[in-house]
Amino acid sequence: MNRKIVVTSALPYANGPIHIGHLVEYLQTDIWVRFQKANGNQCLYFCADDTHGTPIMISARNEGIQPEDLIKRIYAEHTQDFAKFHVQFDNFYSTHSDENRQLSSQIFKSLSDKGSIVKNEIEQAYCEKDNMFLPDRFIRGTCPKCKSENQYGDSCDNCGATYQPTDLINPVCSNCGTKPVIKKSIHYFFRLADFQQQLKDLMASGYTGKSVANKLDEWFSAGLKDWDISRDGPYFGFKIPGEENKFFYVWLDAPIGYIASCKNYCDKNGLDFDKVWNGEEYELYHFIGKDIMYFHALFWPAMLMGSGFKVAKRLFVHGFLTVNGVKMSKSKGTFIKASTYAKYLDPEYLRYYYASKLTDGVDDIDLNLEDFVAKVNSDLVGKLANLASRSVPMLGKLGGMLGSVDAAGKELVNQLAAAKQQIINDYEKLDYASVIRQITALADIANRYVEVNQPWATLKTDAEKTRTTLTVILNAVKVLAIYLKPVLPVFVEKIEKILGVAAMTFADVESLLENKKINEYVRLAERVEKQKVDAMVEESKSESVVNNNQVEQKPLVTLDEPLEAECTIDDFKKVDLRVAKVLLAEKVAGADKLLHLELDIGGITKNVFAGVSQAYQPEQLVGRLVICCANLQPRKMKFGVSEGMVLAAGPGGKEVFMLGIDSGAKPGQRVH
Ligand code: 2FM
Ligand code: ZN
Repeated sequence: MNRKIVVTSALPYANGPIHIGHLVEYLQTDIWVRFQKANGNQCLYFCADDTHGTPIMISARNEGIQPEDLIKRIYAEHTQDFAKFHVQFDNFYSTHSDENRQLSSQIFKSLSDKGSIVKNEIEQAYCEKDNMFLPDRFIRGTCPKCKSENQYGDSCDNCGATYQPTDLINPVCSNCGTKPVIKKSIHYFFRLADFQQQLKDLMASGYTGKSVANKLDEWFSAGLKDWDISRDGPYFGFKIPGEENKFFYVWLDAPIGYIASCKNYCDKNGLDFDKVWNGEEYELYHFIGKDIMYFHALFWPAMLMGSGFKVAKRLFVHGFLTVNGVKMSKSKGTFIKASTYAKYLDPEYLRYYYASKLTDGVDDIDLNLEDFVAKVNSDLVGKLANLASRSVPMLGKLGGMLGSVDAAGKELVNQLAAAKQQIINDYEKLDYASVIRQITALADIANRYVEVNQPWATLKTDAEKTRTTLTVILNAVKVLAIYLKPVLPVFVEKIEKILGVAAMTFADVESLLENKKINEYVRLAERVEKQKVDAMVEESKSESVVNNNQVEQKPLVTLDEPLEAECTIDDFKKVDLRVAKVLLAEKVAGADKLLHLELDIGGITKNVFAGVSQAYQPEQLVGRLVICCANLQPRKMKFGVSEGMVLAAGPGGKEVFMLGIDSGAKPGQRVH
């Protein structure tokens, strides 16, 4: 019996573009959904934009537009990005929808009626200039523990301490810099602890994997706290029924957006929503990243249990993406937007690469750009595409007619087909890395068959033997294409077109293609050029990055290097900047970054060691006017004493730029 399955991915915030970090999840989910469909199951995939909350309200305000207009624009961008990467939602909706408003109120009312929601007065930071309560992430100040400055209101990036915003030293509103005041307000709280036993039972039933369950045990031991589900206006979200200026916290209505997306789909397609979302007939699965586990393993199931909705059968949790071994970074050019990637590289290559790395674990996955180029070129282009690209044109020379598979050929095709159940099992349990390993190993076997049978040689002497060989190879291609289809839908669609077959499924693995005409070859895949990867990275360095985290449990995308301690304007004024003429510039033996400069700063000569030797040749500098900090305390360095510092900045290496002067300025003249 075919299964009926409903799947969701976490909803992306509607204030920033989709990037390659997000794509780990959407590709992981999309591959699973496509696998289910290719394996004969019904599967519906729902998602939506997560549109509410303070950051989106502030982003819109900063752009001088209404939040509704911002989320409309982002919706269009997100849909385009997903389409480029072949992420095929059955419905991609918005949390700012009538269905979501209605469902959020319904769930809230149902939880209230059962006594699971209580009101409490709380004290909160308030900005009197912006006339708003400040979420923890919108307060900056000095960490009460390690005293490092410019930290968020809930936790310190430097020492990891967590605290209340009221504990911060010198707190300010991160929007306008004003010192917040403390104000009281009544909030609604969801009594999470009431669900402790039910949640424990849910975990015991296998709702999550082992490592996630262990983390949850820690949370259970720490004790479940009431959860604040309301926010005071101004706030972009749904007003709480019966309240004038109170709204549902974005994290209340966001997961309800899964249901709203499903409802919208069912209504549009004449399906019974209650059955699809809530009926036992359908299995429900959520895919999320480990940063939002707390919401999906505790709050969300508790909300569903408390309001009479079905809880998902399983929560699949993945890790973060690192690029070249470290977290994505704008300055390294590895904070890559989906649209930027797609400008330079084939989205299916990323699908392939992620698949080759993804397992069912919560470990982070690494996109190593060199390995990416190597793997795509050697496996996808070299092993898989090559099988078809060599044999289809050859068969064309024989009229494009397949013959039949002989006994030896059957052995090969059967060997490939025998892997089917294992591949299905691995897809099912999200071990795509194992799937890809098996497919490449099978492609090796098929390529060996090609080498042994040498159809290019027999083509001239024995047409029918060659036809048989090519028929075997193309049947091998067919089996491998079916295995690859969830990962590479477009690549495989092209193979289907070449073979002249309708959309293939796993049920087609065993059938043979014989004695039929096939179509002309269409190019399946190009090699990745390293220059394209470099250009993509270069472009990403200049793009702006949106920090769209808005919640306690989420690690932030922060600066690569924390800011230094503040320097006052008086400190700054002490820096004496002078025009200096470069009298001499020379390389420093044994120091590959330094140039030794002799500078004339108006009759005084200073020796300076500057870290610019990868950016400038000595002869480019001699005679130039530069700017020098002339009162820097002399520093003894390994190669001599440095008595000043020239003004130059940049990310490093070749990209360091010295401030130069062209006008008739005189050495020694003070600059400001
Ligand atoms: O963390 C995030 O990016 C959230 N926008 C995910 C929401 S998932 C669901 F709960 F809506
Ligand atoms: Zn403010």
